[in-house]
Amino acid sequence: MDTTRKILIIDDDSIVRESIADFFEDSGYEVLQCTNGKDGIDTIRKEDPTVILCDLHMPGISGLEVIDIVKKEYPEMPLIVVSGNGVIKDAIEAVSRGAWNYVMKPIYDLAELELSVNMVIEKADLVRNNRLYKEGLEIEVEKRTKELFDLNTDLEKRVKERTAELESSIKVIKEAQAKLVQSEKMAALGGLVAGVAHEINTPVGVGITAASHMETATKDFEKLFVSQQMKKSDLQNFLITTKEASRILLTNLTRAAQLIQGFKQVSVDQNTGSRRVFDFKEYIDKILMSLHPKIKMTKHQIIVNCPDKLMIDTFPGAISQILTNLIMNSLTHGFSENDEGTITITTEEKPEFLEVMYHDDGTGIDEENISHVFDPFFTTKRTSGGTGLGMNIVYNLVTQKLGGQIRCESLEGEGTRFFFTVKK
Ligand SMILES: Nc1ncnc2c1ncn2[C@@H]1O[C@H](COP(=O)(O)OP(=O)(O)OP(=O)(O)O)[C@@H](O)[C@H]1O
Ligand SMILES: [Mg+2]
Repeated sequence: MDTTRKILIIDDDSIVRESIADFFEDSGYEVLQCTNGKDGIDTIRKEDPTVILCDLHMPGISGLEVIDIVKKEYPEMPLIVVSGNGVIKDAIEAVSRGAWNYVMKPIYDLAELELSVNMVIEKADLVRNNRLYKEGLEIEVEKRTKELFDLNTDLEKRVKERTAELESSIKVIKEAQAKLVQSEKMAALGGLVAGVAHEINTPVGVGITAASHMETATKDFEKLFVSQQMKKSDLQNFLITTKEASRILLTNLTRAAQLIQGFKQVSVDQNTGSRRVFDFKEYIDKILMSLHPKIKMTKHQIIVNCPDKLMIDTFPGAISQILTNLIMNSLTHGFSENDEGTITITTEEKPEFLEVMYHDDGTGIDEENISHVFDPFFTTKRTSGGTGLGMNIVYNLVTQKLGGQIRCESLEGEGTRFFFTVKK
């Protein structure tokens, strides 16, 4: 870069102009001279001087007009007014129009002018550097803004992609879940069907044996009758055989029918009637009335802790089936014949559901059995007619029909507790 400082002197007074020019040339400046405003403007445009020294009063274009043009076209080019008029008004006018400094003629000490020239050059450098710095800053800001914008766009794109990925995985999971639920249901159904087949197999098998035995006996009896060799004892034996066979048949067919009845109820859509709003306490009392014939033969008592006028919108049929099963179980499994047991039914209203706590102070359930209480066909009374479907029906009614949950607790010496909820 050319560091020689170019100084342009515009003055119609040749003595002043040349003495300044000599001085600055001696000081190492490149000096350009113009005698009027017009030449001055042309030279500025052509030569791009470092600094301008300009007279105010010249023929043609005046110094003030030169200031105007320089200010407009080269705002960073320093211009010092050198005027001999000596009027402060001119100085103020010149500076207010854009001159950087003002020097009065006659100039006695050119070194002072040089000082002034150096100062404005320094100031011009500062102004230029400042501008460059600001421009650089703006470019940097613009660059950074663009980078940020790109980053944002990229981020948005990535968020969209991730969301799409997540949505599709959620879909896959949901499908898998639906399949799982379906296969769980199928497995449960399969288990139930196998259970039913197994359970029904015994009474039906015994029935078949009894029936075939009876068939053989009838055929033999018929032969005796046809051959007219029948004795009184043959008739007696035949009667005994058929009586016993019919008894076995009836017992076993009844057992099979019982199992089928229970099996039908496992499907919760059966026999629960429709949903309606009803008074919970009043309804429990009705259930207890219907069970009265069974309870009155015992010394047990049933306590109901439920507020009056507790209105609830649910399936009364399901509530009846649940409580009947629980009470019948307490009577069959919890208490023995001469016990004076107590059954307590307590309700507690929660914002979204009703909690029912059922308690009997009977024998309780063994620890190893407690987790099987709700399993289909789990019974400890198979020999005396238990099907093991009662609690499974209760479980299905609570979870599927009433939208609630059920659990069973039994601590030694404290009887059995069932907690179930009913969605309001
Ligand atoms: N209150 C109770 N006290 C003690 N044991 C109980 C009680 N309730 C249920 N159990 C146990 O849980 C088992 C399962 O009960 P569940 O009602 O399903 O079948 P079950 O009563 O044996 O036969 P059923 O299908 O005829 O009702 C019972 O056999 C019994 O062992
Ligand atoms: Mg039962």
